[in-house]
Amino acid sequence: MKVKKAIIPAAGLGTRLLPATKAVPKEMLPILDKPAIQYIVEEAVEAGIEEILIITSRGKEAIENHFDISYELERHLEEKNKQELLDIIKPINSLAKIYFIRQQAPKGLGHAIGIAKEFINNEPFAVLLGDDLFYHEQKNCLKSLIDIYEQEKKSVFALMKVPIEDVNKYGIISGKKVEENLYSIKSLIEKPSPMEAPTNLAVMGRYIFTSKIFEMIEETAPGKGGEIQITDAMNKLLAFQGMYGYIFDGKRYDTGNLLGYLKTIVEYGLRREDISGLFKDYLKEII
Ligand code: UTP
Repeated sequence: MKVKKAIIPAAGLGTRLLPATKAVPKEMLPILDKPAIQYIVEEAVEAGIEEILIITSRGKEAIENHFDISYELERHLEEKNKQELLDIIKPINSLAKIYFIRQQAPKGLGHAIGIAKEFINNEPFAVLLGDDLFYHEQKNCLKSLIDIYEQEKKSVFALMKVPIEDVNKYGIISGKKVEENLYSIKSLIEKPSPMEAPTNLAVMGRYIFTSKIFEMIEETAPGKGGEIQITDAMNKLLAFQGMYGYIFDGKRYDTGNLLGYLKTIVEYGLRREDISGLFKDYLKEII
C-alpha cells in the first residue's frame, strides 16, 4: 500500500517562543515571507502525499485560514492587477486535500497522532512535525523515508547525528547499521544523559508509521508531564514489527526555539536568490 496520507501535529503550546506564540501559532511564524508550516506541507506534497490532516488546538485558527481561500484578498489583488501576488497566494489552498482536527488538550505528540486514527484508516502514513524544517539541495527527506518504507514495508523515521552533549534534548536510538545511512532499530531512549546514550543518533521530526502504531499509542500510559510520548509507543511497536532509522544528510531546522528560529531565518535568507547578495553584504558589515 502506498503512503498517501500525512499528519502534521501542530497543537503544542509553543511555550519556548512566548510571548510571540501567545496569539500566533508557532507553526505560522514566518521564515522569510512564508509561514513555517507551508514549507512542511510543500515537502509532503512533493513527496507524493495527497491528503493531510493538521492537528490544531484552540487559538490556532490562523493555520486553517492560511490554507483556505481568501476571497477578499484575491478580489482586491485582481482589481489591482497584481498577478504576481495572485500567483503566490492562489495555489496555497489547492496544494493538497487538507483537513483539520483539534486536540483538546496538549497531551503529547503520541496523543496528537492518536486522534488521527479514523483519518488514516489502516494505511501506512507519514508524520511531519509542524516546527521542524528539512533542507537538502537534491533530496526531499520525507520522499527518502517513503522510498524505504515501500521497499521494506516497515516503519521508518529520520535520524541525525548530534553532538554527544546534546543527546539529552532528543529521542536517541540503539540499532544495527544495515546499509549506508540505514539502521535497524533495537530500542529508543527519550532524552538520555550523555553517559546513558547508546549512540548520538537522534530521532528527528519525520516518520512513516504502519497503522499498528495506533494500537501501541492506545496502550501507552502518560509519561513525563502527563504527556503520551510517541517514543514509548514506538518502543512498543518494536516488539511486533521491525523499524528503521534513516540518517538524513541534509540540514534540519528547529524553528520552535529562539536560537533555532534565528538560524533558520538567516540560512533561508542566505539561500534566497533575490536577497542573498545584499543580505550577505549586510551580515559581513555588522559582524
Ligand atoms: P514540541 O514539544 O516541540 O512543541 O512538539 P510544544 O509543546 O508546542 O513546544 P514548547 O516546548 O511548549 O515550546 C513538537 C510538535 O508536536 C506538536 C507541536 O505543535 C509541534 O509541532 N504537539 C506537541 C502537538 O500537536 N500536541 C502536543 O500535545 C504536543
